[in-house]
Parts: sequence; structure tokens; C-alpha cells
Amino acid sequence: MMNSGMHLLNTLDMSREQIEQLIESALRFKHGDDSSKPLASKSVALVFFNPSLRTRASMQVGIYELGGNAVVLEPGGTSWTLEHREGAVMDADKTEHIAEFVRVLERYCVAIGVRTFAALKDWPEERTDPILNAFARYASVPIINLESAMHHPCQSLADMLTIREKLGAGRKRVVLTWAWHPKALPMAVPNSFALAAAQMGHDVVIAHPSGYELDEELLDTSRQLATAAGGNLDVTNDFDNAFSAAEVIYAKSWGAKQFYGDTDQDIAARAPYRNQWIVDEARMSRTNSAIFMHCLPVRRNVIVTDGVIDSASSVVIDEAENRLHLQKAIMAKLL
Ligand code: CP
Repeated sequence: MMNSGMHLLNTLDMSREQIEQLIESALRFKHGDDSSKPLASKSVALVFFNPSLRTRASMQVGIYELGGNAVVLEPGGTSWTLEHREGAVMDADKTEHIAEFVRVLERYCVAIGVRTFAALKDWPEERTDPILNAFARYASVPIINLESAMHHPCQSLADMLTIREKLGAGRKRVVLTWAWHPKALPMAVPNSFALAAAQMGHDVVIAHPSGYELDEELLDTSRQLATAAGGNLDVTNDFDNAFSAAEVIYAKSWGAKQFYGDTDQDIAARAPYRNQWIVDEARMSRTNSAIFMHCLPVRRNVIVTDGVIDSASSVVIDEAENRLHLQKAIMAKLL
């Protein structure tokens, strides 16, 4: 089903049919048509290198509802600091290697979920998802990506479910837009959203200021997948025009690849976009009655105005709820 047949690291290897099956399964869980307990008497580890509300709570609740038990670990907090590099001489601050961490944990748990954000320090290295891939390399149980440097598949699959629920099946004009934010943020959510929307055959428009391009290889792949699925993918620097005819506005801020290692430069470069690249009522009025989506957490009146996020077009809470149902579908399929 998923990457290498066992893990869910991203949606790159998933066919549209497989995504559709997950959406259908999630809807069965959501509507009470599936109350199976595939995790009865089993435990799933959830490893969080970074903070979370939705992912952590929805995974814990989902595991419980599938009959299982969640073991939540925070390396450097409630568990030891972790080294991921092969051949590392561990004479600095890292206490345990992922090799032992994973091999011990899988004696207790049937799967391991991992959240490990980009550090925004070294683009060529971080774009390869080194920590997530170290988990996958040592594991003989499924690894579920709970947001890595490059991908957030649980979010993007839940987003596809939300679009299906709100707008029905078929090709939609889906706009992923950058927005100003006071900090440089990782690219996992925009990468995964663009990729999954392309895989679903939507007409995807990615709007961002010059200098904030997503990963070239990921864009090329997404474009090919969109075309193969009967849609297309365009990139524009024209924020206002991107709203025309949109059926979905998906807002998210992200950092520039060129400024990984020097986020102060990114903050300076984005300064002109403050109060410019924000989703507001005037822009939403130019759309084709678009729904407003954001993965959350979101900064109100920075990324999106109160008027938009509190309006009837905002689906952000349903979107967050769908994380639960979609992740249950993923775990039921993987396990
Ligand atoms: N959207 C999302 O992943 O939220 P959390 O960071 O709160 O888990």
C-alpha cells in the first residue's frame, strides 16, 4: 500500500485508487459504519521531536478507538536524546542511537509514528528526510510519518477527505497560497498538500512570492502526477489573481530554501509581504465560493483574518477532525 510496502513516509508511491480507498475507509469510521478494533491488545509508539496538538491528540484517540494503547515519547524530554547518523562517534550530547531506540521499541509496539520537523539549517540534507528515513531503515514494523522535514501525509490525506466531503468528487480548482508569518516555517504541509491534490487530479495553483519556490523535484513529480490524473499544476507569484475561480483556498506559510541556515535573512526578505500576503474577505469574495483551509495552528490576522476563519466558508475545524478518521484508516490498513 504505502512506501516500501510497509511504511507511510509520504504519498509519493500511492495510487489515486489507494487514496480513494483510504478516504472511503475514513468515512466509514467517521459515520460509525466501521467499529473494528484491529489494534486490540496492541501498542503503537508515537515519537515527538516537536510540539503538536492535533497530531498527538488524534493519534492517541485513534489508537484507543481501534482498541490499542499509545506510548508517547519525546526524545530529549521524556526519553533520551537521539543520534540518527550512521557511524557517528557519540561523544557529544546524544545519548542513544535510533538503531537501538527503534529495535527496542518494536519489541513492545506494532508500529512507530514519528514527528521530526525540519531544523531549517541545511536544505540539501533536510530535503532527504534523514531522521525519518533512519527510523525506516532500522524498523521492521511500520513507520508512520507524523510530519517530517518534507512531508506530512496524514495531514494531506485528511485534507483530501475534507475536500471530498465539502465539495464532492471530481476536479476542483485548488489554490495553495503562501502567507506572511513572522517566522520561517517548514515546507512539509505545502509539499504534501500540493502532491496529494495533484494525485487526486485537481487543478492545483501554488501562489507564493518570488524566492519561496517549493522543492523542484517534488514540483516536477506533482506536475506529472496531476497531468496523469487529468488535472494540472501551475505556479504563480500573483497572489490576487490566484483567488479567481478558486474552489479551495489552502493557506500556509513556509521558509525559503535559499535561507536555510540563516532564518534572519528570510525574515528580512519577507518583510514587504506583511499585511499583503494575508487571506482576507476581499480576496475570498473573488473566489468561486471557495472553502478556506489551513492545517492549524494558525496565527489569526496574520495568515488569515478573523472574518475569513470565522466565516461559513472556513472548514478548518472539520479538517482537524478528519485527521482522526483518516489516521484510523491508515492504521487499520497498515496494521
Ligand atoms: N496540523 C498539525 O499537524 O497540527 P499539530 O502540529 O498541532 O499536530
